[in-house]
Amino acid sequence: MSDRALDASVPVGVIGAGAMGAGIALVAAQAGHAVRLVDAQAGAAERAIAQAAASLEALAGKGRLSAADAAATAARMRPATLGDLAGCGLVIEAIVEDLDIKRGLLRELEPIVGDGCILATNTSSLSVTAMAAGLKRPERVAGMHFFNPATRMRLVEVISGLETAPEVAQKIHRTAEAWGKHAAYARSTPGFIVNRIARPFYGEAWRAYTEGAAEPATIDAIVRDCGGFPMGPFELMDLIGHDVNFAVTQSVFDATFGERRYAPSLAQLELVRAGRLGRKSGRGIYDYRDGAVRPSPAVEPGAEPVTRVIAVGSLGIATPIITRLERAGIDVVRVQGPREAQTPSSGWLEIGPAHLMMTDGRPATRRATEDAHEHLVLFDLALDYATTPRLGLARADQCGMGAFRTVCATLGQAGFACSPLDDVAGLVVLRLIAMLVNEAADAVAHGICSADAIDVAMRFGVNYPRGPMEWSEQVGLRVFARALANLREHYGEERYRTSALITRKGYTGAGFHG
Ligand code: NAI
Repeated sequence: MSDRALDASVPVGVIGAGAMGAGIALVAAQAGHAVRLVDAQAGAAERAIAQAAASLEALAGKGRLSAADAAATAARMRPATLGDLAGCGLVIEAIVEDLDIKRGLLRELEPIVGDGCILATNTSSLSVTAMAAGLKRPERVAGMHFFNPATRMRLVEVISGLETAPEVAQKIHRTAEAWGKHAAYARSTPGFIVNRIARPFYGEAWRAYTEGAAEPATIDAIVRDCGGFPMGPFELMDLIGHDVNFAVTQSVFDATFGERRYAPSLAQLELVRAGRLGRKSGRGIYDYRDGAVRPSPAVEPGAEPVTRVIAVGSLGIATPIITRLERAGIDVVRVQGPREAQTPSSGWLEIGPAHLMMTDGRPATRRATEDAHEHLVLFDLALDYATTPRLGLARADQCGMGAFRTVCATLGQAGFACSPLDDVAGLVVLRLIAMLVNEAADAVAHGICSADAIDVAMRFGVNYPRGPMEWSEQVGLRVFARALANLREHYGEERYRTSALITRKGYTGAGFHG
């Protein structure tokens, strides 16, 4: 078998004409393949093709493609039976998510299709290895995991089971690229790349919320505005549906024999039990019913800003905060810090009586004592301190409200909306990204996929602003290594253990690609 993309002249079979199958069929037809669409339900393939034709016509109406192209693409799709798939070079199944039914289907297909035909599955949670087991030629089975909606989402995960031939995975990878997608290789493992690496995005948000860090609207705003994510975790879970999101977490947790990092949230289970599934049921974390008012994120406007700030040591990646204060007309006096304040990001700003520092994963109250900062305020990690419109801030118990308000009012002058957080370890963004980086490092360490594949998968599969590896390169792996060590020490939980790969690389300053 050649490792090149499937030639556009070779027909493609798609089985299952539901949400995913219909989209995959359209993607293949748009790439020039004749597509044969099969569904067990009478009329389903016809309906899916009619809908695809209508959406192509609508695109032509908007001038996005010619009417002739739209008609030709629609004409390449036709309803079919399993027997019609004989001449296909690739068959992608997107039927019900049930291992026995999928295995049965592949068994039925084997004698129908030719020897060179690749059998691909769009499963999002089942083992590709298990699906191929017992077939005459398990080496031709691989995962070709599209994201919903398949026409718009730009990622395809290419999943190899234990027996998958490398050239089969390679051909799927190249074919996905020829179809205009970004492709990422992964071994068959619970959650593959995206659904595994993304778990802490939800899990740590639940932990922060249940520990009282802030209300969901504040956590969402911090993750969006400071973390640069298109949606906050709670609004995203409301969109996905808590039943679906909970089930994915539970399945990854079960499939990894109870790995604590994937432990589902009891608070989310309560929502599912109450039928508060999110947008689709009218209520989830937020209320979507008519007349409901969306809660605003908490902001502390502060009082009594200062006109002069002392910058001690280096703020590292947070240095643009100083530039923004200066642009706002605040006088910033830079002084050398004690020796330990010379390492990037261990410096601080003296704003009135308060010391403002970036979180290192320890709660402010503990750090205030350990590092002798009396009125300590910690700020959270941000994607870009030069542009972030918001900062998450936590005050040590030793720091009075007056000192805290002075910090907020002064930062407010430089354009930061200050969202107060309770004094939880690692605040919100640092904790969440540190755990994403940890998850990513473990996936690389365990040979599930490459560092590059993770960044591609997270950027194009779930629209993260940066992949975890890029985060670790921009911020410095040491920052995350320290945060993880502090989280582990704070909670004493297995969940926060540092990936061995981070331990190995973190202290040399080498990135994951080094
Ligand atoms: P769906 O329920 O919308 O569509 C499934 C279709 O398969 C239905 O039209 C059904 O009639 C047909 N079908 C069921 N058993 C069949 C059989 N034995 N032979 C032929 N047709 C059969 O499901 P959806 O959401 O399209 O999911 C399909 C697959 O894609 C599942 O494996 C799912 O895990 C996976 N997936 C789903 C995503 C999503 O967001 N919905 C995302 C990525 C993967």
